[in-house]
Amino acid sequence: MASGSKRPASSSSPSAAPSIRPAAGRLGILTPGLGAVATTFIAGVESIRRGLTKPIGSLTQMSHIRLGKRTDNRSPLIKDFVPLAKLEDIVFAAWDPIPDDALTAARKAGVLEDKHLEPIADFLKTIKPMPAVFDNKYVTRINGTNVKKGKTKRDLAEQLRQDIRDFKKKNKLDRMVVVWCASTETFIKAGPQHASLKAFEAAMEKNDDSIAPSMLYAWAALMEDVPFCNGAPNLTVDIPAILELAQQRGIPISGKDFKTGQTWMKTVISPAIKARMLGLKGWYSTNILGNRDGEVLDDPGSFKTKEESKLSVLHTILQPELYPDLYEGFSHVVRINYYPPRGDNKEGWDNIDIVGWMGYPMQIKVNFLCRDSILAAPIVLDLALFSDFAHRAGMKGIQEWLSFYYKSPMAAPGLQPEHDLFIQQTKLKNTLRHLMGEDQITHLGLEYYA
Ligand SMILES: NC(=O)c1ccc[n+]([C@@H]2O[C@H](COP(=O)([O-])OP(=O)(O)OC[C@H]3O[C@@H](n4cnc5c(N)ncnc54)[C@H](O)[C@@H]3O)[C@@H](O)[C@H]2O)c1
Repeated sequence: MASGSKRPASSSSPSAAPSIRPAAGRLGILTPGLGAVATTFIAGVESIRRGLTKPIGSLTQMSHIRLGKRTDNRSPLIKDFVPLAKLEDIVFAAWDPIPDDALTAARKAGVLEDKHLEPIADFLKTIKPMPAVFDNKYVTRINGTNVKKGKTKRDLAEQLRQDIRDFKKKNKLDRMVVVWCASTETFIKAGPQHASLKAFEAAMEKNDDSIAPSMLYAWAALMEDVPFCNGAPNLTVDIPAILELAQQRGIPISGKDFKTGQTWMKTVISPAIKARMLGLKGWYSTNILGNRDGEVLDDPGSFKTKEESKLSVLHTILQPELYPDLYEGFSHVVRINYYPPRGDNKEGWDNIDIVGWMGYPMQIKVNFLCRDSILAAPIVLDLALFSDFAHRAGMKGIQEWLSFYYKSPMAAPGLQPEHDLFIQQTKLKNTLRHLMGEDQITHLGLEYYA
């Protein structure tokens, strides 16, 4: 069957899926990190709520989803099809080692102009970061004073749990989601300390170096039954111990590393090269950026974490093992240079050496002048709303359907992650159709020609 016809029991109304808890009450969104991405996200949501701007870049707010056959003419907005939390019901909180409130942090980040911050300054001032679990060992370029103290990492994680409970109680929240918007931590390889929940908890007690602050936030969130999304390339939730906890408690997790600029383009262009069965000799990517993220990534440890995440994309899309004549041994280089004058306005250059008929070489050049946090902010919103929805729909563990939003998407152990943006988009929309009792859309379409 092609584009499915409407199932008798289903309808485009959210109430058609009785097993999904409604989005009643308020949703708390907590971000470790109140820097460029988090403040741009919060300022954007508040501006939308006040009717000052539109949610550009957000699928949950702007995208339609086709249901049934093309001739059915059913294409509701995703937010009218799926029971998502309303923007009016969102309450924000953050942790950061730097004590600046959201207005000061947004001004320092330099992403949004004063004319966009002024009208919501009263609101942004009220968001003050809670003391963070922070250690310079994992992020060397930041010096914060707003930091928790504790004898063991377990103590620190317990304090995070208390923060989550207090935030819920104080704001009379129904549900919460945590989205990591903090700095990229130094590279850590998964080891025996991460292999099981028991080993992880023992390592927390022993202050083991392999337990990074981000992992403590993840553990604390899951212990409080709160979904966790990881916007940075840190290991964080991508370890067996946290996966075990998420399964055990029935909580959605996803990660890692928001797919915003260059990698977004990579996951669009490389499937196109492969779809045409053109070869690839090399792909050179370089970036200049001058925000605090760029400064943190100037540290070799944090850069290695980012590099691993950026490099993983091409191999899985191009499958050189299946197509040795086209893709064996291609060269892939990624560079990030901290260049302060550019602030948050990153410039990326890609030089792509491709090969055509009879081995003739060609080149594609991409020069992307993007605004990092402007691209990342709607991703934070979508991940929070979809993760909350997934939780209410009884989904748990890795949410592969959210791969669309990540550079280095998590997949079940032993499974290759899906990087192709359009497969990811299909997976996302089909998951929504599936959860809402609608037929999958396969694009076969033969029924139109019967
Ligand atoms: N902007 C993008 O397009 C994009 C894309 C992919 C991933 N990311 C990732 O998102 C994260 C945030 O980016 P940004 O541009 O907002 O960076 P930023 O430096 O402006 O903000 C990060 C904030 O996290 C805080 N922080 C560091 N360690 C912390 C901890 N342990 N607990 C709480 N807060 C902590 C820092 O003090 C800082 O205020 C980075 O890891 C970045 O790599 C960003």
